[in-house]
Amino acid sequence: MQVGEVFEARAVDFALPECVAVFRREGKIVFVPQVAPGEHCRVLIKGRKRSFFLGEPLQILEHSLFRVPPPCPHFMQGCGGCSLQYLEYGEQVRIKEKHAQQVLSRLGGEDCKKVHIEHMAPSPRSYEYRNKMEFNFGDKEGSLVLGLRPKNRWWDLVDISSCFLMKQELVSKLLNFFRRWGREASLSGYDPKRKEGLLRNLLIRYSESENAVMIGVGSTQQSLPDEEGMLHSLRRIEPRLTGLVIIQNRSPAGALLFEKTRTIWGNDYFFENVGNIRYTVSLSSFFQVNTAANQLVYEKAMELASPLPHEQLLDLYSGSGGIGLYMASSVKQVVGVEENLDGLKDARANAISNGIDNYTAIEEKVEKYLAHPPSKKFSLVTVDPPRAGLNTKVIRRLARLHPEKVVYISCNVGSLARDLQDFRAHGYRMSHISFVDLFPQTPHFEAVALLTPSDTLKG
Ligand SMILES: C[S@@+](CC[C@H](N)C(=O)[O-])C[C@H]1O[C@@H](n2cnc3c(N)ncnc32)[C@H](O)[C@@H]1O
Repeated sequence: MQVGEVFEARAVDFALPECVAVFRREGKIVFVPQVAPGEHCRVLIKGRKRSFFLGEPLQILEHSLFRVPPPCPHFMQGCGGCSLQYLEYGEQVRIKEKHAQQVLSRLGGEDCKKVHIEHMAPSPRSYEYRNKMEFNFGDKEGSLVLGLRPKNRWWDLVDISSCFLMKQELVSKLLNFFRRWGREASLSGYDPKRKEGLLRNLLIRYSESENAVMIGVGSTQQSLPDEEGMLHSLRRIEPRLTGLVIIQNRSPAGALLFEKTRTIWGNDYFFENVGNIRYTVSLSSFFQVNTAANQLVYEKAMELASPLPHEQLLDLYSGSGGIGLYMASSVKQVVGVEENLDGLKDARANAISNGIDNYTAIEEKVEKYLAHPPSKKFSLVTVDPPRAGLNTKVIRRLARLHPEKVVYISCNVGSLARDLQDFRAHGYRMSHISFVDLFPQTPHFEAVALLTPSDTLKG
């Protein structure tokens, strides 16, 4: 098989997180984007890597029943936001579920084959579900642009007019406003290759339950020209605005870093409601982006944890209090451990504002906190780490506390499966796992697993 060759075949599988259909040809694997599982196609071989080929679909000869027209006009322009838009939502969930099962049985070891794996819970909404979006400013042919980066092109931007993942009416209005404002004031957009330019990011947080909008403008400078004028016009077009913050971000890295923040007007925090808890979340604190689906995650964590009134709960990677505060009324005491100071302050304030008096938040890295075993006996531990998952040291130290139940919430089934092996080495096995689709149109989803001491399982 060679680059430039064309062949006809049927897609035999689908690979995540790359979102590509898998073809087998002459004993080789060919990955092809924008093809649905089972579709019969004419494919052009475009490139060759060490162990696979990359293809482009020339013609779909037999369409999948689950193919749908992508609603977003920027999908075909290569906007990297959501790669699964051309598949009906139910099919997206089936693909993710199959992927999760494959990863668990490949990486998670023997136990995973015996575990009860529940069906994935779909998101209550497959579009307009996000409470947070981060767009980038840039320059194209001397003109300010505002949009999202195409997949694998960190320096490039698709100038977009709207986004279907957040309330569209709000996003189009704000993208148009900030693009026009920047152009009229002749402000430069940041070029990540040359590391030059004034405007970098537009951060929008929208709380549906409070019908409130908070905006952060990322810039290489601490102030922007005519801030008052901009605020005045913005408040006129967007009466739901509750806060406007300038975020200084001079970092050479691509991510939005909160080097310094300055509130021009209103609040630098917003509110989200999950169950009976009203969370205050600072601009830089973590909060799950799909509030309605996050409720399903917390409900599932609660169900698997089966908290008892005499139990002490240790909530590791606790963010703004999230899962720990949600469970607080069902246990005797909660201790949350979080390294981000803003998140920690939010968690403390959230305990007070929700009348929760059995919550303590500790500012510490989890690995450090666990280095000196706490005197309290925690029978229940929840862990909700970033995508990289836990590490061997954290798992070893956590196992030394001998909790009866560990509820592991993960946004990366690969790192979860790897960590399960370490847990097993330290006497813990997964007994249940469940999935919630927090991120429709994208390859990502959330897993909630219950781990218990191996002898409990045998008994
Ligand atoms: C996926 S979020 C979980 C948030 C929270 N459990 C919730 O329900 O919203 C992960 C959190 O871990 C924090 N974090 C990351 N690495 C950490 C570490 N080594 N020690 C403590 N906290 C950490 C991040 O700041 C973030 O708030």
